[in-house]
Amino acid sequence: MRPSGQLVDVEDSDERAGQLERGQLLRVRAGLGRFRSLIGRSSTSARQGNRSCGDRLDLRAVRPGINVRPPAITAPMSDVSTRQALIQRVVQNPPPVHGAAAGATGVWSTAHDCYDFMARHVEPGSRTLETGCGISTALFALWGAEHTCVVYDQGEVDILVSWAVQQGVDISRLTFEIGPSDDVLPRLEPTELDLVFVDGSHAFPAAIMDWFYAAGRLRQGGVCVMDDVQLPMVTLGLFEFFAKDPRWELIVRTDKWIGLVRHSSGPLREEWTEQPFLS
Ligand SMILES: C[S@@+](CC[C@H](N)C(=O)[O-])C[C@H]1O[C@@H](n2cnc3c(N)ncnc32)[C@H](O)[C@@H]1O
Repeated sequence: MRPSGQLVDVEDSDERAGQLERGQLLRVRAGLGRFRSLIGRSSTSARQGNRSCGDRLDLRAVRPGINVRPPAITAPMSDVSTRQALIQRVVQNPPPVHGAAAGATGVWSTAHDCYDFMARHVEPGSRTLETGCGISTALFALWGAEHTCVVYDQGEVDILVSWAVQQGVDISRLTFEIGPSDDVLPRLEPTELDLVFVDGSHAFPAAIMDWFYAAGRLRQGGVCVMDDVQLPMVTLGLFEFFAKDPRWELIVRTDKWIGLVRHSSGPLREEWTEQPFLS
């Protein structure tokens, strides 16, 4: 799925959301490893008893309400309306990965239209990466993306996995990379990505570093989504750069998040002489 390059209609799908009450049971095929997830590479070995977070899940950390397994899902994830409909379902019953600090829901989240935008640009098999963990992680899993989640805290991963087990959500395509993103991202194999979601640390210059390393792996035509752009700590210098660099196209800008299309490929590392548009 490639963006048109035109301003995207971000009208959300609230009306369609919630229709999805039928379908196949998504299986959890394995648990998680301490760092790079076992499930991303070898669900069999995880099932066979290799040490995994799935073996030491603290189900008490999960809200009682999620013990009720929701109706299974049969509609195909290749259908964008199916992906959009799942947003409401997860928002109404989210993985409480951030605990009491995040209030009653136990999870910090972005705007519905941001998830909706990503639902339009992520389809089964899309190669995606996010910094931070939460509702978005659950959605990437449900949408069938080959997804990497870079998150600071192993505890969040444990809760996410508990939630997925309870909900019957297949997390076999998720890979968790645990640690501060500025440490983790430069060490990851720089495979090509279709979409990147920057929503980890919001202290300057973390978001810019996340963008630098993660969006540097986007293919030409790939999409970068950045959340919390209302914070100067997130955006200092960023809009000025995007406005001048023809290799980035801002296709959506809201008060809270932005969506960009990349018109180049390869790592973002370069000499200052390669940025004449800033002179
Ligand atoms: C706003 S929440 C993410 C919400 C999520 N994207 C969603 O839509 O539900 C921010 C996340 O970033 C994580 N985080 C904070 N600092 C980080 C860092 N330096 N590296 C990686 N993750 C970090 C937090 O633990 C938290 O999971």
